[in-house]
Amino acid sequence: MAFEFIKVNPQYDKHIGLIELNRPKELNALNRQLMLEIRDVLREWDEDDNIRVVILTGGERVFAAGADIKQMADATAISMLGIDQFSTWDQIKKTKKPIIAAVSGFALGGGCELAMTCDLIIASETAQFGQPEINIGTMPGAGGTQRLTRAVGKSLAMEMVLTGRFITAEEAQRAGLVVRVVPVEVLLAEAVKTAKQIAAKSPIAVRLAKESVNNAYETTLDEGLQFERKNFYLTFASEDQKEGMKAFVEKRAPDFKGR
Ligand code: HXC
Repeated sequence: MAFEFIKVNPQYDKHIGLIELNRPKELNALNRQLMLEIRDVLREWDEDDNIRVVILTGGERVFAAGADIKQMADATAISMLGIDQFSTWDQIKKTKKPIIAAVSGFALGGGCELAMTCDLIIASETAQFGQPEINIGTMPGAGGTQRLTRAVGKSLAMEMVLTGRFITAEEAQRAGLVVRVVPVEVLLAEAVKTAKQIAAKSPIAVRLAKESVNNAYETTLDEGLQFERKNFYLTFASEDQKEGMKAFVEKRAPDFKGR
């Protein structure tokens, strides 16, 4: 597949695919084509057994400064309804494989929302997160009012969404938005380290566990517990569960095959 706005490497490391946003002059502003490209590559990689984890990054300078304002400026509600860009976001959210966002520099508006659509965020010390849509007469539309609130709580989310204030990587970590903050030079290496840890596990257990954690946001506690339980039982249908437990008993490292 040839892409205009992203660079991809399905074999960045063993079982790890890398997607790098590539609109540097526009600070990786997310135009519709770019989002479709991310969707297409994730769709293909979801079917590729060689890829177990995806890293999504904007590089060292900027993650993404938001949806492409120039592309949106003249839109009408009805033209937006027709384009239905959020179905692309919904498809990205449905990716079965874990996605790690490696965020450096600005992650604003749709950029922050894209990072939050991923499964976990590792940030560099230069990362800044914000939902500044309020400054341009609109509001978050790709999950900013929902995912940010769930991640950092109502007060901080409300402040960010209503004032447009950016938060630093350190503040984002304190608030629970990002898992770790590292120097910019080692951001990708750190994301790879985490990706490798995940890639060494059973892909089936990883998939079911990801689904279950995500379900915590979608449902009541009781329904979430039932869902978790069924996924837990389902892991016992895999060869990987047998291999994992056998390896423990035999005091050796497991070799998970994704079966
Ligand atoms: C289109 C953008 C852009 C964006 C930056 N650029 N952000 N183009 N859409 N979101 C372009 C600028 O127009 C400029 O191009 C070039 O990138 C460099 O940007 P500067 O503003 O010159 O850089 P700087 O002074 O360093 O300021 C960086 C910045 C600022 C603070 C990030 O660019 C900024 O405020 N950007 C907008 C942030 C924002 O409001 N994001 C939310 C968008 S709405 P030219 O050619 O002019 O030099 C949104 C809604 C999501 O995301 C809804 C769901 C999809």
